[in-house]
Order: sequence, then C-alpha cells, then structure tokens
Amino acid sequence: MKIIRWGILGTGRIARKFASDLQLAEDAILIAVGSRSQQSADEFNKEFPVQYCHYSYLALAQNPEVDVIYIATPHNLHYQNTLLCLQHNKSVLCEKPFAINSRQAIEMINIAKEKKLFLMEALWTKFHPHYIKMQEMIRQGLLGEIKAVLVNFGFRPTPPVPARLFDPALGGGTVMDIGIYNVFIAMSVLGKPDYIDAIMTPASTGVDEQCAILFRYKNGALAQLFSTFSSNLATEADICGTEGRIRLTSRFYEPSSTIEFYKEKADKKQIIPVTKEPGFGYQYETRHVNDCLRQGLTESNMVSFADTLLLIETLDKIRKAAGIHYPDDVG
Ligand SMILES: NC(=O)c1ccc[n+]([C@@H]2O[C@H](COP(=O)([O-])OP(=O)(O)OC[C@H]3O[C@@H](n4cnc5c(N)ncnc54)[C@H](OP(=O)(O)O)[C@@H]3O)[C@@H](O)[C@H]2O)c1
Repeated sequence: MKIIRWGILGTGRIARKFASDLQLAEDAILIAVGSRSQQSADEFNKEFPVQYCHYSYLALAQNPEVDVIYIATPHNLHYQNTLLCLQHNKSVLCEKPFAINSRQAIEMINIAKEKKLFLMEALWTKFHPHYIKMQEMIRQGLLGEIKAVLVNFGFRPTPPVPARLFDPALGGGTVMDIGIYNVFIAMSVLGKPDYIDAIMTPASTGVDEQCAILFRYKNGALAQLFSTFSSNLATEADICGTEGRIRLTSRFYEPSSTIEFYKEKADKKQIIPVTKEPGFGYQYETRHVNDCLRQGLTESNMVSFADTLLLIETLDKIRKAAGIHYPDDVG
C-alpha cells in the first residue's frame, strides 16, 4: 500500500490538531510543513517533527516529495493557497469554508479539473461515524417524514481572540466559521432549500456576531439555524420527523459515541451507541483522501464538487440576505 505523504500549509490551531490525528491514519505520513515565518515553522516542527520545514508556502508547494497539501489558513486565503498548490501540481485538502464565495470556488475546482488533480473541501463531519449513523437511521425511515431541522452553534471567544473571527478581510463572522456546519447539517438532511432568509447583528467590525437563518422547502419542511459569538450554546442539532427525532448532542459537528433518538415522547430518549476512535476526528477524512489518491481519483464521492458548490452558493445567498460583505466579494 502506498503511504501518502502530506504537507500542511499554515501552523495554527487546526493545523496542529490535523497533524496530531494524521499519526492515527496508518496509511499516511506528515513529511512537510510550510509557514509564513521561520519561527512558526520551527515551533511546529518541534511539536510535530517533519522531514521538510519550509519557511514559505511556495517552498512547500514546490516540494516534489509531497503528494497532497492540507490548507489550514484563514478563510480568505483558501482560494490563493489552493491555487498555489494546484499550480505546482499538488493535490489539495482545503479547510472549510472552501472559499469566500462561489466565484472563487468555481475557479479552484476548474483549475483542479484542468490539471487533473485531487481537490476536496475538508468537511470532516461527513466522515464521522455518528453522522453516518444518523444518515442511516433517516434512510431506514425511523424518523418518518422530516419536517424540521433545528441547529444552534455558539461560543464566546476568550482572549486572545483570533483576528480571523471578526476581521472582514479574513472572512470573519459566525456564518462562515461555525454557521457553515448548521447549513451543512440542514442540507444533508433536507437538501437545497427553496427559500432562504437570514438576519444578523453586526460586530463592531461589521461582520456578523450572531446570525439567524431560515430555510423553507416546497414540501413544507423548515430549518432554523442559529450561530453566535456572543454566548456559549449547547451546539446541538435536532432532526425532527413525523415518527421520531434525532438529537446530535454537543458538539454535533465533532465525533460522538452516541446519538439520542426520541421515538414516542419528547422526554423519552434511546441512546444509540456509535463507535468512536481516539483523537480529534480528522483521521477519518485523511484516510478517505489517502484512498482517493491511491485510486488516482480527482474528486471525492463523499464531498463532491457539487456538494461544495451547493454549500458555498447557499452561503452566498445567506450572506446576501443578512447583509454580510467581504472585500473579496468585489471583483
Ligand atoms: N474542521 C475544523 O474542525 C476546523 C476547526 C477550526 C478551524 N477550521 C478552519 O481552519 C482554518 C484555520 O483556522 P485556525 O483556527 O487554525 O486559525 P489560526 O489558529 O489563526 O491559524 C491560521 C494559520 O494560518 C496562517 N496565516 C496566514 N496568513 C494569516 C493571517 N493573515 N492571519 C492569521 N493567520 C494567517 C498562520 O500560519 P503561519 O504563520 O504558519 O503561516 C496561522 O497560524 C479556518 O478556515 C477555519 O474555518 C476548521
């Protein structure tokens, strides 16, 4: 079995968690990291020793030993960092949100297609056993007809607050950072909404500090999605059907060893056990990418280009409805 050789672009919080979980994926090895600064690269290298410690993103993209690069920079950089890697013939796993808007996403996908390189959005939740179990229970008809999806995701950032959470130039605000998971869960269950509305309260920087999103479907289903940087919320998702309700408990987007299922009464729950591996949960998507690369695939069947485009187009519509604007939307 070919061992896939990974590089990580950016050395922040998520890069470190991803690097830690990469050690759990038997069929992969982290061989390189790229940072804007020598100091950050060296610090990362101390924690996660790599064969190649690059002091620029370009040097990482040019490394001929690297098979695939994980992009772990702020949202606004996903576009240019992905293009850099693709232009140097590297496959890419790019953090969520894939891009700032659908215009960027289309260009990224087109270039990957032209160059016949693998590209995938890192929607890690889609690979988690509890999420897969939820989809299986829905397919089995255990919920009956799904009438509503209710999701909340909120936390109050503690100092030092990362600039990327509130800076419009970095794609700040709740919708792109955490609300994206609410949107993803609703669309996983109900599909593309027929009607979208959204309202937000701005932070002092103009990006959304809180956002409430509503989806309506022709069959009468509704989704109510709330994200906030003002309060610590349960961060749970309820999938409500005519025959039962599933609750993905806190925090619904991370791997969980249980799902709550309410069949008859609202307060009578069955605990559905799910197998969960140690680690943060990034190893599942890593293994999938490794498999895709070994098979010579250029697109994932788990997170397809169509999935990514539908998600970013929906985020565009939500931002338009709520009045959330970024410098990268111009041009
Ligand atoms: N899937 C998940 O569970 C998950 C969780 C958290 C975050 N994320 C996503 O991952 C991305 C990064 O989030 P994070 O929390 O890891 O961010 P972070 O801790 O701020 O790290 C981002 C890294 O990007 C690089 N960078 C390049 N230009 C930058 C700039 N202008 N400002 C700040 N950093 C810059 C830096 O690395 P160098 O200095 O080494 O170049 C920095 O360490 C975001 O898009 C976020 O949505 C995903």
